[in-house]
Amino acid sequence: MKSILDQDLILKGKKVIVRVDLNVPMKDGAITESSRIMKILPTIKLLIEKKAKIIIFSHIGRPKGKVVNGMSLKPISNKLSDLLNQEVIFNKNAISEKISVEIDKIKDGSVMMMENIRFYDGEEKNDDTFSKTISNLGDIYVNDAFSCSHRAHSSIEGITKYIPSYCGLQLVDEINALKKITSEIKRPVTCIIGGSKISTKIKIISNLIKDFDNIIIVGGMGNAMLKNTGINIGKSVCDEGYKNLVSEIIEKSETHNCKIYYPLDVVVSKTLDGNGTIKEITEVNNDEMILDIGPKTIESIKNIINNTTTVLWNGPAGYFENPNFANGTKKILEIIANKRLKDKIYAVAGGGETVAVINKFNKFNTFSFVSTAGGAFLEYLEGKELPGIKALK
Ligand code: 3PG
Repeated sequence: MKSILDQDLILKGKKVIVRVDLNVPMKDGAITESSRIMKILPTIKLLIEKKAKIIIFSHIGRPKGKVVNGMSLKPISNKLSDLLNQEVIFNKNAISEKISVEIDKIKDGSVMMMENIRFYDGEEKNDDTFSKTISNLGDIYVNDAFSCSHRAHSSIEGITKYIPSYCGLQLVDEINALKKITSEIKRPVTCIIGGSKISTKIKIISNLIKDFDNIIIVGGMGNAMLKNTGINIGKSVCDEGYKNLVSEIIEKSETHNCKIYYPLDVVVSKTLDGNGTIKEITEVNNDEMILDIGPKTIESIKNIINNTTTVLWNGPAGYFENPNFANGTKKILEIIANKRLKDKIYAVAGGGETVAVINKFNKFNTFSFVSTAGGAFLEYLEGKELPGIKALK
C-alpha cells in the first residue's frame, strides 16, 4: 500500500480528500468521547504542514441516504478546529460542481470538512457515479479510517478507482498493531475475549485458535461456552443456537494445541442492579444471572498472562456498568498493565464495547495499542480481507 509518507508524493497545493471516521458518541448535540477525533490529528497535521488543501469526508450515524437533523458533522468540525488550533471550514452544501469551485479557492494548508457523507444515497450503495463525483473534488485520496474499511462504500472503496489512493498515518499504525496479533505474533500469545455477542465473535475465536496458545472466554461469551458444555447458567445473558460452533471450537483447539479457558467461579445476582454473590460455577441457581468472573478465575487469568508475550483483549468480563460487577474487568486491566510494566509485553485492545470500557476506567495506557475500530477490528481478526484495505493495495 502506498502511504502519504511516500517520498515521491508531492502534496503542496494538491486537493487531498481524506476519509476519516468521526463517528463519535454524542449526547444532546455534544461529543461524549473524542478518541476518534484525536486519532486523525497526525495525518491532518502532516497534510497542513505539507501545504495540501485538505477535504475531509466522514460519516456519523446511519442516516441511510437522507439528511437527518442531529447527524450533522458541524459540532465535530468545531471540535477539530479547537484541537488543530486552526479554522476548519464546514461545508454543508450538497456535493456539486459549485463545491468544486469553492474547494479550488481554499488556501494551501486549509482544512474543509464536508457534511455527513451518508446523507447521500450513493455512498452506502457504493454507486459508481457517486464515487466518480466525489473523486472529482480532489487530486489524491487518503484513507485514514481503518474503522470504516470493512464497508465497501463510495468514500472508502469506490473512490479509489478514480484517483491515486494512499493510506493515512492512523491506518498504517492500526495495521501494524494488528499484524502483531495476527501475522507477526511473538508467542506465547493469549486472547481474552468477553462481551455478550457470541454470534459476532465466535468466528474470531475459531480463526485465532490456529495461532494462539491460550483463549480465555469470559462475559456473556463465557456463559454460552459454559451452557454448551452442560453447566447451568440460570437466567444469564446467552446467545442461543451455537452448540455446533462451540463443539467445533473445542475440537479445533485440541488439534492446534490451543488451551481454551472459561470461568471457574462467578459473581451472580437475581437482578442487574443487585449486589453480587461469589459462587462456584456448579452452584448457579435457575433464578440467578452470571454478571462477573470470580476470584479464582481472576487468579488463573493472572497466571496465564504472566506467562505470555502478546495479549489481545476484546470485551468486558462482566456487567461492568454496575460497579458491583466491574471487578473482573478492572482486574484484567490491572493484570495486563502490571505485566507490561514488568516485561514490556505487547498488548492490543479493540472493539466498540472494549473502547467504552477503557474510557470508563481511563485505561488507555494499559495497552501498547488501542484500536478504536469496532466492526472492522473484529472482521480483521476473523481473517476477512477488508474492502477498503484491499482497494488500497
Ligand atoms: C464504527 O463505528 O464502527 C464505524 O464508524 C462504522 O460505522 P457503521 O457500523 O455504521 O458502518
